[in-house]
Amino acid sequence: MSRKVAVIVGSLRKGSFSRATARALAALAPASLKLEIVEIGDLPFYDQDLDEGTPPAEWSRFRETIAGYDGVIFVTPEYNRSLPAVIKNAIDVGSRPYGASVWNGKPAGVVSLSVGATGGFGANHHLRQTLVFLNMPTLQQPEAYYGNAGTFFDDEGNLVNEGTKKVMQGFIDAYAAWVEKLLG
Ligand code: FNR
Repeated sequence: MSRKVAVIVGSLRKGSFSRATARALAALAPASLKLEIVEIGDLPFYDQDLDEGTPPAEWSRFRETIAGYDGVIFVTPEYNRSLPAVIKNAIDVGSRPYGASVWNGKPAGVVSLSVGATGGFGANHHLRQTLVFLNMPTLQQPEAYYGNAGTFFDDEGNLVNEGTKKVMQGFIDAYAAWVEKLLG
């Protein structure tokens, strides 16, 4: 049986290395996983007042979509040593109304990257702090901090760095095996 995994990408720009990484992971995933990018760029900022009336259609659509997945992989760049607002907003939207979080119990993977050498370590661990509260069991090893992300892809966003390909393959295979163990 193939597990459906939502991939949340924390960058909205067209030439995003995070999006290219998400696509590469989807292509490398074993047959037991089907990865799909779920878009977050149209989600209005979270405002609790709106949840007490009729929530924006974009929020409802996003919540229903995520509810239909077995797991979630977050691919995030690092912004100012933390995660970008767009990914935190999507997490906040999915976490409410109180008691109806769509994230609850879903096995998570965290991939961070940057064009610098540190591979988004700060973003990765700020995100992990939130996933603890959301009750998302999160793959521990291998950790995925992808530094120098500007060297991985060609101009069309194809993964051309063989070393990185091996590292990504190791990550997605470990995530797939762990999801099977967890969900049975
Ligand atoms: C960055 N970048 C960055 N890099 C890093 O290693 N640590 C950081 O704290 C930051 N901070 C930061 C803030 C903001 C507002 C921007 C726009 C960028 C650089 C970042 O790694 C680079 O732009 C990546 O290419 C972003 O990922 P995408 O858009 O290619 O997916």
